Amino acid sequence: MNDVRELLEDIITSEKLIYGVLSKLKKKSNSIYTKVSVKPVLIKNEKVIQFTYHYDNKVMHKNLSFNQAIENITKLMNDYFRQAMLFTVDADYQILVSKKGKVKILKKKPSRKKVNLSHNRKKNYIIEENKPYPFLVRLGVMNEKGKVYSKKYDKFKQINRFLEMVSDTITTLENKTTLNIVDFGCGKSYLTFALYHYLVNILGYDVNIVGLDLKKNVIEFCNQVAMDLKYEKLKFKHGDIKSFEEFEKVDMVVTLHACNTATDDALAKAVKWGADIIMSVPCCQHELFNKIHNPIMKPMEKHGIIKERLASLITDSLRANVLEILGYSTQMLEFISIEHTPKNILIRAIKKENINKNAVEEYKNFKTFWNINDPYIEQAMGDNLTNVLKMSK
Ligand SMILES: C[S@@+](CC[C@H](N)C(=O)[O-])C[C@H]1O[C@@H](n2cnc3c(N)ncnc32)[C@H](O)[C@@H]1O
Repeated sequence: MNDVRELLEDIITSEKLIYGVLSKLKKKSNSIYTKVSVKPVLIKNEKVIQFTYHYDNKVMHKNLSFNQAIENITKLMNDYFRQAMLFTVDADYQILVSKKGKVKILKKKPSRKKVNLSHNRKKNYIIEENKPYPFLVRLGVMNEKGKVYSKKYDKFKQINRFLEMVSDTITTLENKTTLNIVDFGCGKSYLTFALYHYLVNILGYDVNIVGLDLKKNVIEFCNQVAMDLKYEKLKFKHGDIKSFEEFEKVDMVVTLHACNTATDDALAKAVKWGADIIMSVPCCQHELFNKIHNPIMKPMEKHGIIKERLASLITDSLRANVLEILGYSTQMLEFISIEHTPKNILIRAIKKENINKNAVEEYKNFKTFWNINDPYIEQAMGDNLTNVLKMSK
C-alpha cells in the first residue's frame, strides 16, 4: 500500500483531488459499507476531506483532516476495497488491488474539472443573481449584467430548484465518465441548458444531452443557441417521445411538464434504458379523469375541480408506484411553490436493483379501490411491467 499512500499524499496535500470513490468489496471483507466516496469540502473555512459511506440505501458523512484522510483511505483499501477511482486536476487514477493484495495504479487523462469549494456552501444558489450566464442572457432570463428580468424571476428560481434536486442525486452517477441524458418535451429548454451548464461547466462531466420536442421551430431555436454558446454536446431533436431511438443506454431522463400521457411514454423509455435517475414533473393528467370511480369517494368525485385534482394525484401516485415495482425508489418533491402553478409535483426516481414485491401488492389494491382498468402506463411499460404483475399473481 506504499504506492497508494504516496499517491494520496501527493494529490490530497497539494489539493489536486476533485473526487474519489472506493468500490468493489474484497471477498472476505466484513464491511457494512458497499462504497465510500471522498471529496474536498470547506467546513467553517477549513479545507477537509468529506467521506460518504454508503450502506443499505443510506449514507453517513464524516469529515477528516488531510492527514487523517490519507491514513483512512489507505486503510480502507488495505482492509476492504479492491478498487478506487481518484479524479484529480492532473489525471484520473484507477487503483486496483488483486486477490493476493498486489496493487496496480493506472493513470488516464483527467475527466473532471475542479469545483470551487465555496460552491458547496451555496447549494441553494447554483446559479447566482447579478452574474451574467451566457445561456440565461440568450434565453432572455437575465440581461448582460446578470440582472434577472422581473417577469422571469419565477423561471430563475425554478432553474435553481431543479439544479438543486439534480445535485442531491448526482452521486448516483459518480462512477460514470460520460453521461447520456435525455430531456423529453424540452420546449424552450431553459432547464436543459441549465443542466448542461451545471454538469459540464461547474462539475466538469463529459455529457451527451439531447432535448426532444414535437415543435420544430423550438428545436431549431434551441440548436442555434447551443451552437452559438459552443455547447457542443447538447443537441435538440424534433420528434415524438415514443419513437425516439437515439441512445441504447441513458443515465438520466428528464421530463418536465410533458403533456398528459407523454409523461408515461417518457417514463417507459427511461425504464427500458435502465436510467439511473428520472426527474419528471407531470402535467395535464387527463387520462384517469373518466376512469376512476369508488362510491365511497362520491363527495370528492361529484365536484369537477376536486375530481380533476384527485385524478392528477392518483395518476402520479400510480406512476410512482409503477416505478417502485420496477426497481426504483421514488420521492415526490415540491418543484415550485403551489402559488405559481398547481403543476408542481416532481417525481424523482433513483434506480435500485430489486423488484419491490410490496409495491406490486399496493398497486393492485390501489387499482381495485379506484376501479381502474387498463391505465395507459401499463400499455406504455409493456412487458417490463406486465411480466412482473403476472409473476406475482
Ligand atoms: C409545457 S411544455 C414544457 C417545456 C419544458 N420541459 C419546461 O418545463 O419548461 C411541454 C412540451 O412537451 C412537448 N411534448 C408534448 N408531448 C410530446 C411528445 N409526445 N413528444 C415530444 N414532445 C412532446 C410539447 O411540444 C411542449 O413543448
